[in-house]
Amino acid sequence: MKKDYLLPSLNDARKRNKETSEKFSFSLDERYKGIGEHKKYHIITHGCQANQRDSETMAGLLDAMGYEMCDQQKDADVIIINTCAVRQNAEEKVLGEIGALKRLKRENPDLIIAIGGCMAQEEKTVSLIMEKYRQVDIIFGTHNITSLPKLIYDVISDKKRKVEVYSKMGEIIESVPVTRFMSHKAWVNIMYGCDKFCSYCIVPYTRGKERSRDKKDIVAEVEELVSQGYKEVCLLGQNVNAYGKDLKIDYTFGDLLNDVAKTGIPRIRFMTSHPWDFDDTMIASIKNNKNIMPYIHLPIQSGNDEILRKMNRRYTREEYLALFDKLKAELPGFAFTTDIIVGFPNESKEAFEDTLSAVRHCEYDNAFTFIYSRREGTPAAAMEDHVDMEVKEQRLQQLNELVAYYANKNNQRFKDQVVEVLVDGLSKRNSNVYSGYTPENKLVNFTGENVKTGDLVKVKITKVMSFSLNGELIKE
Ligand code: 5AD
Ligand code: SF4
Repeated sequence: MKKDYLLPSLNDARKRNKETSEKFSFSLDERYKGIGEHKKYHIITHGCQANQRDSETMAGLLDAMGYEMCDQQKDADVIIINTCAVRQNAEEKVLGEIGALKRLKRENPDLIIAIGGCMAQEEKTVSLIMEKYRQVDIIFGTHNITSLPKLIYDVISDKKRKVEVYSKMGEIIESVPVTRFMSHKAWVNIMYGCDKFCSYCIVPYTRGKERSRDKKDIVAEVEELVSQGYKEVCLLGQNVNAYGKDLKIDYTFGDLLNDVAKTGIPRIRFMTSHPWDFDDTMIASIKNNKNIMPYIHLPIQSGNDEILRKMNRRYTREEYLALFDKLKAELPGFAFTTDIIVGFPNESKEAFEDTLSAVRHCEYDNAFTFIYSRREGTPAAAMEDHVDMEVKEQRLQQLNELVAYYANKNNQRFKDQVVEVLVDGLSKRNSNVYSGYTPENKLVNFTGENVKTGDLVKVKITKVMSFSLNGELIKE
């Protein structure tokens, strides 16, 4: 059957050039304003912080069309699922969710179901949804978020399914409306895409090339957040150390950190640093600005040279550990976390042992650990793998036990200490308890009175666990 829609192409998405990306300013077409009056939307978000921030943009666009956000799928006229493609289990979860929406669509044929995010950039997923999940009305890619108003308008007008997924290097679009989901902490994109092409990773294909926002736009966004009372920003990029390189200007991430620090926002975080390009300007900026939080996430992925080479990580074990030791020495009191993949194709027992010994060396505060997931279209997908899943699962468990041991060991230093906590609100588990994070990004659950979201409070730590701390509010 001939398809009347264009599929994305991971092959085309591989392309890169050295040009600075084009920058556009968004404005919402008058035609789309008001079409959401008296209607509601619901967004389900999977995956990383970049997706969280994209969902806030989708919400901003729908709010500008007159829609209202709602908590329940059953109340919604538009349901958006913002998907993640980084591992197979995330994809399966989304397909299950889309399957479950069939019933709602049957009960309300005017319901519009839209699928966005990284899965929408994969040709196999788009084909599958178009053929097998007929309840889906719109598939829109990571480069097509600002088309959402038009796509919704078109579906309402002609009742036909729409696919708009471009496999392009990407551009920078400014002045897009945003509805932030939190009133005290904000995600701020500083760059998009990734050019690192780690051999296992789908992100460089789904999110285009590395491209930086103009520093003026970033600083203006943070200044506005300060004036709105925000207490924390997290500067986002797949690889923030590469900030500015594509703009061909003499201004790096270290310079940006200094300028963002000058806005006076109480807390600055950034995600994610690749060990590549973690330069001395960056270290100096982190050291010199009190509002840059003492927390660094530095993914290692593996502690074995052969695996690191096959992963195309661009550093050796020795280089990573040397950088880690330098950061640890220059930034005392900082917390360090990492990402680790176990079971990369043909990972030997010895190679896995190297990862364990790297964890023993670094004594991380925490690590996000994953079993390697084969991603169609990436170089690693073609690599032979003779390691059983059972072995990979055992390795993950062994690794997690080691990670928990060091997490606990690191947390001991907080026992009986007074820490500053930015309050997120009532704890999810216990309604008489508040929760929030310390500067080192430690989760604290504490008892207290007259506390509200966004307060910066002092808490005395009474109990220390591996992945959280308990405490009591100190009245000042
Ligand atoms: N399989 C397992 N984990 C992966 N990650 C990225 N791609 C894969 C994959 N194919 C992990 C990496 C990365 C984190 C965000 O997700 O550890 O740092
Ligand atoms: Fe994926 Fe590597 Fe880019 Fe991170 S740096 S998004 S792991 S390709």
